[in-house]
Amino acid sequence: MLGARITAIGTYVPEKRLTNFDLEQMVDTSNEWIIQRTGIQERRITREDEFTSDLCVAAVEDLMRRYNKTVSDVDMIIVATSTPDFPFPSVSSIIQNRLNIPQKGAIDLSATCAGFVYAIHSAHSFIASGLHHKVLVIGAESLSKITDYTDRSTCVLFGDGAGAVLVERDDTSDSFIGFHLGSDGSGAQHVYRTGLSKQVNEIELIDTQYLVQNGREVFKWVVRNIPDSIENLLEKTQTNLDQVDWFIPHSANLRLIEPICEKIGYPIEKTLYSLVHFGNTSAASIPLALDLGIRDGKVKNNDRLLMYGFGSGLVHAGQLLQLNLDSQVEAPTPL
Ligand code: ACO
Repeated sequence: MLGARITAIGTYVPEKRLTNFDLEQMVDTSNEWIIQRTGIQERRITREDEFTSDLCVAAVEDLMRRYNKTVSDVDMIIVATSTPDFPFPSVSSIIQNRLNIPQKGAIDLSATCAGFVYAIHSAHSFIASGLHHKVLVIGAESLSKITDYTDRSTCVLFGDGAGAVLVERDDTSDSFIGFHLGSDGSGAQHVYRTGLSKQVNEIELIDTQYLVQNGREVFKWVVRNIPDSIENLLEKTQTNLDQVDWFIPHSANLRLIEPICEKIGYPIEKTLYSLVHFGNTSAASIPLALDLGIRDGKVKNNDRLLMYGFGSGLVHAGQLLQLNLDSQVEAPTPL
């Protein structure tokens, strides 16, 4: 099996801020309730004329500037998103054209908040097979476009953003230590947006253009299942938690991350999340959290990272890897 590593990272969030105080003017909620139940203070949201593809391009531009990278030689683009500009064509094809990448493989990947982890796992698999050399992976969302700003139980949670990485072949070692994937479609009715069908698991869905979530059910499922899955991944890779430098769970809600850390016995101080200023950005939340750690100087090369995504499906994915980025030549664009 051939080795691979993440060589560069770039991120972007839209300029427009939506604070808890703004939300107090829109629905019956309070800054105190939102902070106490979620840990979120504000989120960024796209302009009306700004879409997921725009966020992807800006994140890749940040990556190219910081690491002096070109993307003209990537042989596969994977965009993980639940909020593509269109059901089709794909975001990956749109950005292939906008970034002047010669016509190579381009796919969108649908695994909601686990999308980024599925996408880097896919990139690693493509490279390990020997058939690909350099894969551009992006997790990006414009969740504000499918958020009902009259529903206080969801509108306080979600935000927009993008995180891009390059996964490249490494002939000397493999940064990807181990993974764990899972899916439980029996909980499909707990987080959804209706499409061609309005029924799942023989349950009638609320027919709306917006995201619908039974937060309490998702919360219970995550706390019941994700700690065991993390332990499964650690066992498979014969890793102790004290060998993990940073835990990067999906930034759904701080009150959900805390019981996960408690159950697995990992310190919250060594846990990275992006929710405080960006909210739940689904597929973008893990690369945003990783990049915040890099930008703050906390995360360093050789650190072992445990990423774990979970979300609508219900679906989940974990990846243990050792960070080995190329040297940064320019400071990141401020977020
Ligand atoms: N402000 C004030 N009160 C509120 C708000 C709000 N924004 N939202 C809900 N409430 C009220 C409810 O109406 C309810 O009032 P009632 O008791 O009078 O009926 C009360 O607060 C409790 O509501 P719950 O929904 O039970 O609140 P909970 O403590 O479970 O918190 C939350 C809700 C934050 C959504 C939580 O359940 C959660 O984080 N769940 C997990 C979500 C998640 O992880 N999603 C990941 C997947 S996302 C994806 O795939 C796109």
